[in-house]
Amino acid sequence: MSFDLVLFGGTGDLAWRKLMPALFQAWRHGKLPAGGRILAVGRNALDAAGYRDWLQQRFNDLSGPTRPSAEAFSDFAAQLHYLQLDLTQPAHYRRLQRWLKQPKAEEGRAAAADTVVLYLATSPHLFPQICEQLGAVGLNGPEVRVVLEKPLGHDLESARAINRAVGAVFSESQALRIDHYLGKSAVQNLTALRFGNALFEPLWRRESIASIEITLAESLGVGTRGDFYDRTGALRDMVQNHALQLLTMIAMEPPARHEADAIRNEKLKVLQALKPFDAHSARRDVVRGQYRAGVCQGRAVPGYTEEGSVPAHSRCETFVALRTEVRNWRWAGVPFYLRTGKRLAAGSAYIVVNFRAVPHPIFPGPHPANKLVIKLQPEDGLELHLLAAKGASGLETLAPVSLDLDFDKAFLEDRVGAYERLLLEAIHGRLNLFVRSDEQEEAWRWVEPVLQAWREDDAAGLGPRPYAAGSWGPAGASALVARDGFSWAEEQ
Ligand code: BG6
Repeated sequence: MSFDLVLFGGTGDLAWRKLMPALFQAWRHGKLPAGGRILAVGRNALDAAGYRDWLQQRFNDLSGPTRPSAEAFSDFAAQLHYLQLDLTQPAHYRRLQRWLKQPKAEEGRAAAADTVVLYLATSPHLFPQICEQLGAVGLNGPEVRVVLEKPLGHDLESARAINRAVGAVFSESQALRIDHYLGKSAVQNLTALRFGNALFEPLWRRESIASIEITLAESLGVGTRGDFYDRTGALRDMVQNHALQLLTMIAMEPPARHEADAIRNEKLKVLQALKPFDAHSARRDVVRGQYRAGVCQGRAVPGYTEEGSVPAHSRCETFVALRTEVRNWRWAGVPFYLRTGKRLAAGSAYIVVNFRAVPHPIFPGPHPANKLVIKLQPEDGLELHLLAAKGASGLETLAPVSLDLDFDKAFLEDRVGAYERLLLEAIHGRLNLFVRSDEQEEAWRWVEPVLQAWREDDAAGLGPRPYAAGSWGPAGASALVARDGFSWAEEQ
C-alpha cells in the first residue's frame, strides 16, 4: 500500500510536538507502511532539506533521552517533503494537487499514492476554506481522507458550520475527527475489558454499580497557550470532547460488531441519553473553578490570571466538575461524575467504577465496596479493589486488597502512543477511533446550557470559584459528590 500524508500546519506546534514525533515512532516500530511520503505544508519559505533540518532541531529540543540518533533521524527524514503554500490562495492548491498526482522519482515514488491522508493541523477557522479549495482541485476522491484536529467549533452552531463545510466536499466516512483520548491505549483496554471478557458485562449496570467517576487532572498550567485557552476554557477544551468520549466508552451498549459505525451508533445513543442541563441544574450540578497562585508539585506557580496573554479579569474556567446521569435502563439513577482541571495536585487520568456494597454484610464492618480503577495516565492499567480475609483465627476480619494489572509492563514492546495509533488508523482507513459528526454535535448540544448559564453568571459578576494551584479544585467539587454520599477517589 502506498500513501501520502499531508500535514497542513506542518511547521505548527502540533506538527512538531505531537505528529512528527508520532510518525517517527511509527516508523521506528516498523508500522509505517513502506512506500509512503509525508508532506509538510506551511507558509515558511523552506525546501525539503530546510524542513528536515528545522524538524531535527525541534526533535532535539523536545525529545531528551529518547532523542533519535542522527542516523535514525536521517533515515526517517528521507520520507519527509515540504511544500510552501499559502492556504488562502486557490492557485497554491493546484501545486499541491500536482505534487500528489505527479510524483517525481527523487521524491521516492513514480505513481500517485493509493491513499492520501490530508491532516488539517491548522487553526479550525481555516477548515471550511481549505476543504472548499481541496474540492475545487479534485482532492476529494475516494482515495482521500481528511483528518480534522480539535477544537472543532466553540459551540453547536460553529461546529455545525464546520461540519457543513467539510460535508460539502467529503463524505462522512472520509472525514476523520480526532479526539486523541480515543487513541490512548487505556481506551483500547477499556473496550477490551468490557467486550472481550465475560466477567464484567453482567455487572456493568445500575444493579451492581453505585457511581462512576472520570478524572482528567493536569498539574500543568496553561503555559504559553493563555491566549487560546482563555477563549476556550476547560468545558470546551476537555469536557465536551475527551471526558464525554470516555463516558460513552464506559456507558455504551455492546456494539454488534467491532466496526466504526456499530460503535459510533452506540456512543451516540449514550450522548442522547445524557440528562440535559437546564438553567437550574447547570448551576447546581456543575462547578467551575479558576486556579490562583499556589504550590504545585513542590514549586510555587502563578495564578491563571497572572499567566502570559491571560486578561487580568478573566472569568475563564480552568476546572470543571459535574454530575450527570445516563437516562436509560442500564444506568438509570447512577451518577456519573466528571472532573478536569489545570494545576491540580497531580497529573493523572483515571476512571473509577464504584460497585455497590454487599446486600447483606456478615463480616464486622464497615468496609469499602469493590472498586475498579481504570488508569489512563501516567500509567496504563487496571486496579480491582476487593476485600480479603485477614487474621489466623476463625473470626477473620476483612481487609482491602487489590489486583493490579500494569499494561505498560505486560505489553512492553507493543506500547503505542495516542497520535501514533490514530495516524496509523487514518492511513489504514479504519474509523473506529474517530468521532462522527453527529456524536460531536450531540456533545455540543449537551454542554450548551452550561455555557449559557455561565454567560449569564459572568454578566451578573459571578465568575468561577477560585482554587489554589496544587489542590484538587474548589471545595464545591467535593460537595457535589458528597451530596450523593460519595467522595472522589484519592489520587491514583
Ligand atoms: C488537549 C487540550 O486536547 O488535551 C490540552 O487542548 C490538554 O489543554 C491536553 O492539556 C491533555 O492531553 P493529555 O493527553 O496530555 O492528557
